Amino acid sequence: MKTILVTGGAGYIGSHTVLQLLEQDYAVVVLDNLVNASAESLRRVETITGKSVTFVQGDIRDTAVLDDIFSEHSVFAVIHFAGLKAVGESVEKPLSYYENNVYGTLTLCKAMQKHNVKNIVFSSSATVYGDPVSLPLREDMATGEPTNPYGMSKLMVEHMLSDLYVSDNEWNIVLLRYFNPVGAHESGQIGEDPNGIPNNLMPYISQVATGKLQQLSVFGDDYDTEDGTGVRDYIHVVDLANGHLKALDRLMLNMGLDKYNLGTGQGYSVLEMVKAFEKASGKTLPYKIAPRRSGDIAACYADPTKAATELNWHAEKGLDDMCADTWHWQSQNPAGYPKD
Ligand code: NAD
Ligand code: UFG
Repeated sequence: MKTILVTGGAGYIGSHTVLQLLEQDYAVVVLDNLVNASAESLRRVETITGKSVTFVQGDIRDTAVLDDIFSEHSVFAVIHFAGLKAVGESVEKPLSYYENNVYGTLTLCKAMQKHNVKNIVFSSSATVYGDPVSLPLREDMATGEPTNPYGMSKLMVEHMLSDLYVSDNEWNIVLLRYFNPVGAHESGQIGEDPNGIPNNLMPYISQVATGKLQQLSVFGDDYDTEDGTGVRDYIHVVDLANGHLKALDRLMLNMGLDKYNLGTGQGYSVLEMVKAFEKASGKTLPYKIAPRRSGDIAACYADPTKAATELNWHAEKGLDDMCADTWHWQSQNPAGYPKD
């Protein structure tokens, strides 16, 4: 049984990935400082799977904690989710973002090198493409200039890992560029639980549907898109999590460094999302048109061909599943996870 270290494994995408790792009989160690998560997510994953996780509450910037983990467990690979992800906050607190996301990954990689663990899957983002020159986005297109410190931290880590591979090609590195993760596990027991008022569309919509928030602001209806609102490639978190298991299969082939888009290839506008969520929830969602949000782009969607060809991965769930599963989670857990 192979052991996987999952940093940030108590978080939204991490907890869904841990669930699938356990189902596939991997042993899982989670390292998470719980800055944006609750340990309840992992307890629920254990209940759903009937299997246990080794949970270490600690920080990826803490060399001593990393040394202990790598000494105690024979880790085959690291799936590295840990980091801060709020675009607006990153503009307010750039140093926190560079410290957690860049210095944190650097500290992790140094510990991996020291303990001769040279397999890593990294959570990158479509944000590294910047404002798309053409669509759909392919991995061989140039990366752009991210408009905020969060995006820049992802691009910096991509460069750092690429340089690491050039220096030592015993490393196997998979960079996964996520498009817009939404949805929840079909059990409705785990899902996205943002702190405070959500920044992202889907959690905002679902909190309007429960009545916790009054009205959605649609940021701009004058983009060059079919209905004028922003278009994104929403991907179900269960499909996304599955992409990480496929990435582990790839690591086992010792293929060096690879990058893959994880998206569906299909873009939906904000108003299409509102309609689909109304259908799934049976609720009417009040919304108003508001000015564009600074830093937003008109449209962004993936060409997912490379992941299909090389990882044997493709998204299976459609928009109705994304909305129904989000609603299932949100309506059963209107206040998110109980606070520890
Ligand atoms: P999340 O906030 O739910 O998960 C991140 C986890 O990392 C949290 O559990 C948090 O407590 C933990 N963490 C943060 N800093 C840490 C540190 N220094 N040491 C240990 N643990 C730490 O976010 P998510 O949506 O699950 O995202 C996971 C990863 O995917 C992140 O790296 C994020 O940047 C990336 N990503 C997310 C999206 C998205 O829209 N959700 C899109 C593209 C990329
Ligand atoms: N939107 C609204 N109202 C809201 C929130 C969002 O109209 O209250 C719109 C946005 O303007 C955009 C679309 O909904 O057109 C999606 O916005 P999100 O904030 O959900 O997602 P983004 O595409 O802006 O950003 C997400 C992640 C980033 C990541 C990026 C690219 O939050 O971390 O995808 O992967 F970098």
